[in-house]
Amino acid sequence: MKAEEVRSVKEEAIASIKSAGTVAELEEIRVSYLGKKGKITSALKELGMLPAEERPVVGALVNEVRQEIEQALASRREELGKSELKAKFEAERVDITLPGRKPNVGRKHLLTQVTDEIIDIFIGLGYRVAEGPEIELDYYNFEALNTPPDHPARSTTDTFYVRKAGDRPASDDALLRTHTSPVQIRVMEAAKPPIYVIVPGRVYRRDAIDPTHSPVFHQVEGLAVDEKITLGDLKGTLEVFAKAMFGEDREVRLRPHFFPFTEPSAEVDVSCFVCNRRGCRVCGNGWIEILGAGMVDPNVLAQVGYDPETVSGFAFGMGVERIAMLKYGISDMRLFFENDMRFLRQF
Ligand code: DAH
Repeated sequence: MKAEEVRSVKEEAIASIKSAGTVAELEEIRVSYLGKKGKITSALKELGMLPAEERPVVGALVNEVRQEIEQALASRREELGKSELKAKFEAERVDITLPGRKPNVGRKHLLTQVTDEIIDIFIGLGYRVAEGPEIELDYYNFEALNTPPDHPARSTTDTFYVRKAGDRPASDDALLRTHTSPVQIRVMEAAKPPIYVIVPGRVYRRDAIDPTHSPVFHQVEGLAVDEKITLGDLKGTLEVFAKAMFGEDREVRLRPHFFPFTEPSAEVDVSCFVCNRRGCRVCGNGWIEILGAGMVDPNVLAQVGYDPETVSGFAFGMGVERIAMLKYGISDMRLFFENDMRFLRQF
């Protein structure tokens, strides 16, 4: 290549480098001049074919041109790199002022909230939480609770038995517990007085579903066994509970009732928190029944090896659904189990 040609190759190269629009295009240009088969590379290889006197001059020129092209490439590459990065940033711009997407945070089911609330009140009084199996033995659900197989309180229609229909129940038969009271026996078998426990749990009865019945529902049981426990302790304890749950102005009354495992037994009413005992649609006569209770029957204490002469106790059991319905003015129990979020989200 003559010096003339080398110069025109240089002009051409510099011009195309200046007009290159992308880094990729620039690379193509580099290959076409400085690559293995590039024009400048070939010019160097062909130096030997020139007359001896031209070689040093053209050789020096080609080297100089190569350096100039390299420099032009480098500075254009830097320019293009900057603007390409800028374009990329522009394209990927995030609008940080857009409102975020709210995560769907869950909440406790109302029945769990109410159960927790009941438990908290008794924990404040020094009680501990105990739990027992939902599939229970006849012995714990009935027999040890002073309810033998032929006892009239044991209605055969409302228990889910696991034994064959018509068979006479035996104490080692399994059933779905009909109340949380069997846990009283399990707790007393496992420990000595003093005992102060609160027992939440699911219970089962063969009832058709309607606004106030469900074959599965929830109870909270309480048991206190100690020296010199009296009916007065029971009433005072339930009064503290009723005030904490339904308001400071509440009163409590005990109405005589019957449960096989307590003597005496009572149904416990709380003064109506809607009308304050004047009588209204919620209470009727000013009082609302909230639970069953009584003094633990001496037979039950003896059954677990306690001496009824030295210790006494009281027990109570309440329905969580009933407490929740009263407290929140809910008129149909089925709402608790239908899992309609429009209902559940209100609490
Ligand atoms: N277990 C009874 C029921 O399901 C409720 C009950 C009444 C529990 C009196 C007690 C009690 O501990 O003393 O209807």
